[in-house]
Amino acid sequence: MSTGSETLSTTAPRRARRRSAWPARLDFAQSASGLVLGLFMWGHMFFVSSILISADAMWAITKMFEGYFFFGRAYPGIVSLVVSGIFILFVAHAALALRKFPISYGQYSAYREHMGMMRHEDTTLWWWQVWTGFAMFFLASVHLYQMLMHPGMIGPYESADRVWSGRWWPLYLVLLFAVELHGGIGLYRLAVKWGWFPGKDANAGRRNLKRLKWGLSVFFIVLGLATLAAYIKIGIAHQDRVGERYVPTWQRDAAPAAPSTTLPGGTK
Ligand code: HEM
Repeated sequence: MSTGSETLSTTAPRRARRRSAWPARLDFAQSASGLVLGLFMWGHMFFVSSILISADAMWAITKMFEGYFFFGRAYPGIVSLVVSGIFILFVAHAALALRKFPISYGQYSAYREHMGMMRHEDTTLWWWQVWTGFAMFFLASVHLYQMLMHPGMIGPYESADRVWSGRWWPLYLVLLFAVELHGGIGLYRLAVKWGWFPGKDANAGRRNLKRLKWGLSVFFIVLGLATLAAYIKIGIAHQDRVGERYVPTWQRDAAPAAPSTTLPGGTK
């Protein structure tokens, strides 16, 4: 039978030893926000690359996000709302990732030494994820701010003018590589961490995951480069008319002919 003093002496150290659940919660929040951002990026790349189909296709997708086909007129504010959500998620994900950055030169060089010694691909991939993530702090923030504040300036001519005449293409070029490498590595690490697609042979499963990861990164980088080239081509052709809004072919054809000044009866 236990005495009161025994109970006190056993519960106090046990309470002190109890681990906080917060590191696990923060880790889960980081994984979940990364997954949502990764999936968003796949959609984003497909929507933006609609310019490869035609300028009209890109215009229609832009207007769909502005609610044009639901309300009968465009509300660019809807795009700002979506951007705000993505921006908040992006900042939260970056803040959570900060916990894992090396915080001193000592930590930095210890990791580099460790990486060189181990020559383990996953350890090196983590290093790339830190650097690409760091680059995105700046590059993606600028892009998101532009989209947040000028949601109505998205379209075949509007985007192409920004990319070429607005000289955004160097930023997009670096951001494209950063986001596709970061996203690919991130999703691969998520799959390994949470044991997705394990299969019978863990090593073979990991090899397949790695192939899938590289495949996805290469696919989206090639798609992104082709898309960027398309905006640059339109931007160069349109550089003398910067600011002109795109009007889709069917609206141009349907537009009433220039009003005739001829009055009935033939008089002018
Ligand atoms: C809701 C939020 C977002 C919207 C509405 C949006 C919209 C766009 C649009 C319209 C373009 C075409 C170029 C232009 O108009 O300037 C573009 C390009 C691009 N965006 Fe975003 N974006 C968003 C979020 C992001 C995020 C979070 C990233 C990366 C972290 C990103 C990375 C890129 C890249 C790399 C390009 C160049 C695309 C290419 O080369 O194919 N965007 N975005």
